[in-house]
Amino acid sequence: MKYKVLITFNLFKEYVNKVKEFAEVELWDKETPPDKNWIIEHARDKDGLLVSLTNKIDKEIIDSSPNLKVISTLSVGYDHIDINYAKNRGIRIGYTPEVLTETTADLIFGIMMAVARRIVEGDRIVRNGEWKIPWTPDFLLGYDIHGKTMGIIGMGRIGRALVRRAKGFNMRVIYYSRTRKEDVDAEYVDLDTLLSQSDFVVLTVDLNPSTYHLINEERLRKMKRTAFLINGSRGKVVDEKALVKALEEKWIAGAALDVFEEEPISKDHPLLKFNNIVLTPHIGSATYDTRYKMAEIAVENLRRGLEGKPMIYEV
Ligand code: NAP
Ligand code: GLV
Repeated sequence: MKYKVLITFNLFKEYVNKVKEFAEVELWDKETPPDKNWIIEHARDKDGLLVSLTNKIDKEIIDSSPNLKVISTLSVGYDHIDINYAKNRGIRIGYTPEVLTETTADLIFGIMMAVARRIVEGDRIVRNGEWKIPWTPDFLLGYDIHGKTMGIIGMGRIGRALVRRAKGFNMRVIYYSRTRKEDVDAEYVDLDTLLSQSDFVVLTVDLNPSTYHLINEERLRKMKRTAFLINGSRGKVVDEKALVKALEEKWIAGAALDVFEEEPISKDHPLLKFNNIVLTPHIGSATYDTRYKMAEIAVENLRRGLEGKPMIYEV
């Protein structure tokens, strides 16, 4: 018997074909995500959903799909899925950790360097013909990275990959996490200490009720005036209104963000007016190698879940 599967995003064609080897497929193939009604309509008779983080899979969608056995997401984050509700109904959830850890850590380290050394600002100045003087001692001065303190909030897979990068840059690394780790080459501190001592406060927590707006006005005020906030986790971990205030009133030196409370961020969002902030469009895992590996795993999780076998990675 062939299973019935709904793919709710524009998955690479070769991986759609792989799903077709074991299932009848219905597919959303546009780049902008489908609305909820489209998913409800098409999920009704399906055994499996293959989703991305742009698809919010809530109770209503789950309830509308009585045969559903598996939800496989092409992401490590699963805050877009009502996990408890799905699990209570016996639905298995697949996800794609580990394969994207190093790639995402590269991007986070990259945007941290870009904002501290004003790389994007420099590029804009060159392109706009605003580079008038060959060299002057005080032009585009930024902040060192080597020898500084990185404070990692959330010592999970990506947090650990950042520790390795930071050590290569001779940084001091401190961290705060839900649980203390004995096997990490970094010093565990409480959150207030981390905020007050770090030159780079780096967010690598998952989004859950305890991390929603973890970085708020009170915590931004605890950071050094020369420190940067770097977010490669989820936009909702930071209260963006408070961050705008912090940048306007210069409580911190700047920020680098790959994720936002609303994605895509609107072009008139107040964050876009600051020069001392680097913004990237949620591309942490976006390399050819990694995205294809994620697709491979997401399809395999789906197949194994439908066949009642252990998945490669199951939530
Ligand atoms: P992970 O291994 O699960 O790490 C998350 C860590 O967050 C865990 O170690 C957990 O700590 C910690 N944590 C959770 N709640 C906390 C709290 N209230 N206070 C302090 N620490 C808390 O996940 P990962 O693979 O590193 O990925 C992390 C997140 O990055 C994903 O969930 C996703 O949202 C995001 N991400 C973004 C991109 C991108 O494109 N920008 C790419 C990949 C991932 P304990 O271990 O101490 O419990
Ligand atoms: C990306 O943000 C992911 O969760 O994989």
